[in-house]
Amino acid sequence: MLILHNTKKPMKNATPEMTLDENLSGNPMPEKKNAGRVLLFYSSRFGHSRKIAGVVADEIRNSGLAVDVEELRHGATIDPRRYVGAGFIVSVRYGFFSSALYEVVDAHKAWLDATPTLLMTVSLTARKPEKRDPAKHSYTRRLLKKTNWTPTRVDVVAGALEYPRYGAIDRACIQLIMLITGGEADGRSEVDYTDWDGVRGTARSYAKEVIESEGRALTALAS
Ligand SMILES: Cc1cc2nc3c(=O)[nH]c(=O)nc-3n(C[C@H](O)[C@H](O)[C@H](O)COP(=O)(O)O)c2cc1C
Repeated sequence: MLILHNTKKPMKNATPEMTLDENLSGNPMPEKKNAGRVLLFYSSRFGHSRKIAGVVADEIRNSGLAVDVEELRHGATIDPRRYVGAGFIVSVRYGFFSSALYEVVDAHKAWLDATPTLLMTVSLTARKPEKRDPAKHSYTRRLLKKTNWTPTRVDVVAGALEYPRYGAIDRACIQLIMLITGGEADGRSEVDYTDWDGVRGTARSYAKEVIESEGRALTALAS
């Protein structure tokens, strides 16, 4: 797992409310009053990226921030007054990410460029360690080039192979791709290639970055 870094200008926003969010892993987690809030979008066909989003949300909450998790849909928007950071956990399907991702990035590009942001791309190509370098992962590279967006953190995450959940056409297509690329081609298989410790580590590092950015913003306000 390889991660890209860059440093962003500090942004500050906090929501003065106490909530009890039901996170995606099903555990209600109390949120700290006045905790900065992060928005996590996920785009998921068979639920794997949604599961990753749940784990990322748990880690960020454990770092002391509040988190909202939302499915990335067409027309999705971000209220910049409400959030101190935003993350996107998006899977690849036949070479493409959801077009809703491009729409939301385009609509909020200036805010995203000035805010700590996390991009996690989820794909089967990334089951091969050498493809987890964002610069060598063609889908991620193309996304970043097309949007001209530089997330603070980019993580290329290996997804899951879940043949029993696919329809006949998808199963045949994925089997063919797996045969060509030397992967698991038994149509009854289910393989989770995700490095879950890596996902948690990235989430913690990202949360730290958000907290540091908030701190810089507060210092700037006080001076
Ligand atoms: C129909 C289908 C098409 C896929 N296309 C690609 C692809 O083009 N490249 C790739 O690396 N992985 C591809 N994958 C793998 C998915 O990105 C991977 O299974 C991921 O875990 C799916 O996550 P999701 O359930 O959140 O959508 C495909 C999977 C399916 C089922």
